[in-house]
Amino acid sequence: MAVRLVDRPLGLLALVVFASVAALPARAQSPAASDEGTIRYRQKLMSGVGADMGAIGDILKYGLPLQSHIATYATLLSQRSELVAAAFERDVSAGPTDAKPEIWQEPEAFREKTQAMKDEADKLAAIAAGGDAAAIGQQVKALGDACGSCHDSFRKPKEESYKRAGAGS
Ligand code: HEC
Repeated sequence: MAVRLVDRPLGLLALVVFASVAALPARAQSPAASDEGTIRYRQKLMSGVGADMGAIGDILKYGLPLQSHIATYATLLSQRSELVAAAFERDVSAGPTDAKPEIWQEPEAFREKTQAMKDEADKLAAIAAGGDAAAIGQQVKALGDACGSCHDSFRKPKEESYKRAGAGS
């Protein structure tokens, strides 16, 4: 396909884009694919969360002159936390996922953990803008604790992860 793209760049590209967009509704209608999509989507949301936290961690760990970025990541984390409720609304706990069924048995507790992540991220955004390195470090830890608190209750531990079972990644 890449070779043909070089031959006739515009026409084929338009066709490829049209074909993939046209294929979307048909796929979304299949219940099996929808479970798969639900899992894939929420894992992408969470890996974005993990990447933001990782970036903050690198700035601190390596003393990068990028402290001003921390407030932006904190704001992104707060915004991502607002997507969590809808991303986990559909009850899909079977398949290649580390989500525990408790998410749908104790929705209020799950909602509270989501809110705690948002509260700590909002605090970090405010503290990071102030530039006090010690306070920033402390608040990053508080935010990390909010992640860990939800994972402890609602995410399968590493030894039970589908990733370990070799069912995909
Ligand atoms: C409200 C609960 C909750 C909070 C808060 C939360 N997580 Fe998660 N996280 C989960 C669940 C549940 C999964 C498993 C999702 C799945 O496999 O379907 C997950 C998965 C992940 C993953 C793996 C994603 C993948 O690709 O499979 C990473 C990384 C992650 N979380 C990082 C974080 C970080 C960092 C924070 C805090 C800033 C955080 N999480 C806060 C519930 C939470």
